[in-house]
Amino acid sequence: KEMKREFGRTLNELKNAAQETIDRLRDNIGEEGGSEGPKQDLSMRGDPLELGSRHPVSIVRQEIVDIFRKFGYDVAEGPEVEDDYHVFEALNFPPNHPARDMQDTFFVSTGHPNPLLLRTHTSSVQVRTMERMKNPPIRVICPGRVFRNEAISARAHCILHQEEGLYIDKNVTFADLKQAILLFAREMFGPDTQIRMRPSYFPFTEPSAEVDVSCNICKGKGCNICKGTGWLEIMGCGMVDPNVLEASGIDSKVYSGFAFGMGVERIAMLKWQVNDLRHYFENDMRFLREFATATEV
Ligand code: PHE
Repeated sequence: KEMKREFGRTLNELKNAAQETIDRLRDNIGEEGGSEGPKQDLSMRGDPLELGSRHPVSIVRQEIVDIFRKFGYDVAEGPEVEDDYHVFEALNFPPNHPARDMQDTFFVSTGHPNPLLLRTHTSSVQVRTMERMKNPPIRVICPGRVFRNEAISARAHCILHQEEGLYIDKNVTFADLKQAILLFAREMFGPDTQIRMRPSYFPFTEPSAEVDVSCNICKGKGCNICKGTGWLEIMGCGMVDPNVLEASGIDSKVYSGFAFGMGVERIAMLKWQVNDLRHYFENDMRFLREFATATEV
């Protein structure tokens, strides 16, 4: 009971002190230049948050995947550190093929029959898919990072991104391959795009071809991007060699298929006329910011 009075008085002092402070602060508000007034402009916006953007390689990677998803392809992925079998052997590379040389491939381990290495193409994922699925139809698109032992320059890099496709079923023909690539090229580069195929060679496809699209910058007239030819090379492709089907346990008398592979940086270079591969890996903000508006949210 005695403490009650004491407590009340203290509480009252506190209340008065608080009130005094509030009054003093309130008086200062609006008093321009008041010595105790707030020094900051409280109506100013906070620290601006920078909006990030997707990397051009990610944008194009996704665009390619989306196009093939529409055609019914599934995405398949596999390890970046692979073995010789999945990168070369199962794909019909002869034992002395130059790609199996230290000059072209980064080896992680050597000295035994199936050395570990960094994959040089995502065709290894196609091998793993065939091994896993065995029963066609198989329709996959394999995006991923690949590694090549190249000196870095404007036109070559030791890290690249690829997307490779594989389609296996009964009665798949070269005409199906050509149609699939034409549809892809038109989705990617516009409805007027033309394609042409030039004979080529890959150990894992027969026949093989190199695909060019009509230059979308000069519309085929010839400019410095297409070096005056009117055509731009975009990918390699071909009918899967029967040896490759058999190596993964698929009966080549019943099934046939096609495969194709392209470099994502290359497609992005053509899309945005980037003239130096190194830009993709240097994280220069001035370069990356240019793609902020190309990012779909
Ligand atoms: N794997 C080949 C490369 O890396 C591309 C390719 C894929 C060619 C499929 C033909 C068929 O260059």
